[in-house]
Amino acid sequence: MNVNARPLLLAATRARRRAHAPYSRFAVGAALLAADGRVFLGVNVENASYGLTVCAERVALWKAVSEGAREFVALAVAGPAGRVTSPCGACRQTLAEFAPELRVYWRASSGTLVRRSLKTLLPEAFRLAPRRAR
Ligand code: THU
Repeated sequence: MNVNARPLLLAATRARRRAHAPYSRFAVGAALLAADGRVFLGVNVENASYGLTVCAERVALWKAVSEGAREFVALAVAGPAGRVTSPCGACRQTLAEFAPELRVYWRASSGTLVRRSLKTLLPEAFRLAPRRAR
């Protein structure tokens, strides 16, 4: 599937407004494109107990999976302008569960579009073979 990264990044940037980031003041938006064409948006949701914070990418993924999407094509991530916001390691692993070949987009500090494959962002990701129901 051919993906236009710019509209996906724009959707991620617009979503940032809904971030709940009163502690870091680092609002992040994510837009996850499913194989069926649906786009799931996510924002970071922080918590007064800091470690409970969830990144924008995982919020988008949880929303998508809970709405029945299982195959994903691309993800765009947007943080504050000029601040490189590439997915953290935990998000890479959760995304690899569903889409090891996912295309991932963000902007360099100069504003240039960065395009990566999840495979390059998380080589040799941990996987388990699914078990058959008994
Ligand atoms: N954050 C994300 O939501 N996604 C990323 O890719 C990087 C970090 C959030 C977590 C936290 O709320 C804030 O950004 C600062 O780390």
